[in-house]
Amino acid sequence: SSMEALSLSPPMSPPVVLTQDELKRIAAYKAVEFVESGMVLGLGTGSTAKHAVDRIGELLRQGKLSNIVGIPTSKKTEEQALSLGIPLADLDSHPTIDLAIDGADEVDPHLNLVKGRGGSLLREKMVEGACKKFIVIVDESKLVKYVGGSGLAMPVEVVPIWWATTARKLQSLFEESGCVAKLRKDSKGEPFVTDNGNYVIDLYLKKEIGDLQVASDAMLRITGVVEHGMFLDMATTVIVAGELGITIKHK
Ligand code: 5RP
Repeated sequence: SSMEALSLSPPMSPPVVLTQDELKRIAAYKAVEFVESGMVLGLGTGSTAKHAVDRIGELLRQGKLSNIVGIPTSKKTEEQALSLGIPLADLDSHPTIDLAIDGADEVDPHLNLVKGRGGSLLREKMVEGACKKFIVIVDESKLVKYVGGSGLAMPVEVVPIWWATTARKLQSLFEESGCVAKLRKDSKGEPFVTDNGNYVIDLYLKKEIGDLQVASDAMLRITGVVEHGMFLDMATTVIVAGELGITIKHK
């Protein structure tokens, strides 16, 4: 019968299709291989960084890492690290960080990043700007040809007062790129508030912006802008997990 024919044929292994979350975890675990005992660590924020923090907690618990101090980049990561028993400190007492591990929303071919869709860009930039090594962990969906190339938001943290004026200035700065600036809202339709009590303006670009450093400086010169989510020339290593394996890119 056909049943017998089926049972006679060798068992077929199912195709291995990894979910996006599994790819994120693979990249995160690879990055944690660079962590050594005694390090001061910048702990990133987001669904990818969460796996790295989990792994660091696990290695501490197993006694495979010791003497680690973590500097969290958000209240959420702080809570997670505390629940895992990772000793924490702050940037003021540890101005030099050995290694930071964090996700990103976009990675361009020069390893420039867009970050902050999770809303933690200010602390992330403070921590990641203070570290000797910054490893970015992403699944391959985050790779873009140019900054803004995903068509998704480029976030800018702004002070709440007169945010619409700041949003207008940001939008006109990138007029030639067809920029649309929108106030980020939370699930209740209220303005999204960052850990620092600020708002986020999400910039949507239709075209590539020219000189990124010029754009960065121009945004920071707008009174009312606190910080933006372009992380230029900051990543020292990017670990990309894809269906075909892990790629490690060094600056
Ligand atoms: C938060 C960030 C995150 O690193 C970024 O949003 C990536 O998040 P995820 O790993 O969940 O895709 O910059 O401010």
